[in-house]
Amino acid sequence: MTTASTEPVIARKKPYLVRLAKKGRTYWWCACGRSRKQPFCDGSHKGTGIEPVPYVAKADGEEVLFCGCKHTRHPPLCDGSHNNLGDTYEEASADEIAATADIPVTPFDETGRARLDGGCFVLRPAGRWREIGGGWRMEPLITAEDGARHLAQYRLLAEGRTAPLTFGQNSEVVLFACAGAGELMIAGRACPLAPLTGYHVLPGETVELRASPDGPAELIATQCPLGKPPALAETSAAVASAQDERLRWQRYDPARRERMADRFYQVLVGPETGSEQVTLFIGEIPRSRAAGHRHLYEEAIVILTGSGFMWTERARAAVRPGDVIFLPARQIHSLECTDPGGMRLAGAFYPAGSPAINY
Ligand code: FES
Repeated sequence: MTTASTEPVIARKKPYLVRLAKKGRTYWWCACGRSRKQPFCDGSHKGTGIEPVPYVAKADGEEVLFCGCKHTRHPPLCDGSHNNLGDTYEEASADEIAATADIPVTPFDETGRARLDGGCFVLRPAGRWREIGGGWRMEPLITAEDGARHLAQYRLLAEGRTAPLTFGQNSEVVLFACAGAGELMIAGRACPLAPLTGYHVLPGETVELRASPDGPAELIATQCPLGKPPALAETSAAVASAQDERLRWQRYDPARRERMADRFYQVLVGPETGSEQVTLFIGEIPRSRAAGHRHLYEEAIVILTGSGFMWTERARAAVRPGDVIFLPARQIHSLECTDPGGMRLAGAFYPAGSPAINY
């Protein structure tokens, strides 16, 4: 029979970010939660039947998020399980809300950006379309000029049949369909085109549209690592990875969502579908304001439904459907939903991983 002393205790409900000094060195993670040297073992587990877990540093200076709640399913690393320890996602405290109540709403500048702290901004796209040719038009949303280091994002518009489009030989691309019907051809593979669907394009592969005549197709393309903007390819015949069996598209499906307390997310493209660089997911949040938190990844977010505010330490901007948020890695932030109907968003981030991991 299990006794209380054999259960791990929660050291804290978020992970510990630790920079490990030396490649190859073994670090012992406290699994019982009783150590006073968190997140590492100090021997306090004796008598609990719980043993510390070793972790070998993969590189000098490797940064690791060790689980602090001791409920991770992938010890010793945080897997986001701490988000499910309460009925709600960790919400902003009364003190945090009071301390930020007087922060004014940042206006949008002439480029359509509301600039917040640390390079974070909200972009309200103005439909400044550029012709690519072959039936494609694009609007740059996030590029290196905006301070992005790892990913670029473009809005693509096309009708009917298009010429093949390339994102270069070195970048992985995830596409998110906002509108359209018909087929999307990825390196010659026919994938059904429908809203709320994510697609995975490998480096060097091309994309063509075979849209139904009902209306234009609109896609959000996130390129990682960022490179040259999308351009017409000479041919779609050069399929470097014709034998690749990875899943290339996945549609939003409420039954396949993961729960994070009162929030949900569904990964459309990620490590589990073979993505090496970037994760694409749909997130759903109820009317709420999360406590300020950070991610180790660089992220681009498109608001699909609902409205609210994007907060950083000393600034906030209003967000509504169609807005795009650029969130640099490690920037403290909170996306507040003020809409009674909740908010749905599409997020893409580098490096690929789980959207549930925050600190
Ligand atoms: S802190 Fe335990 S899973 Fe994140």
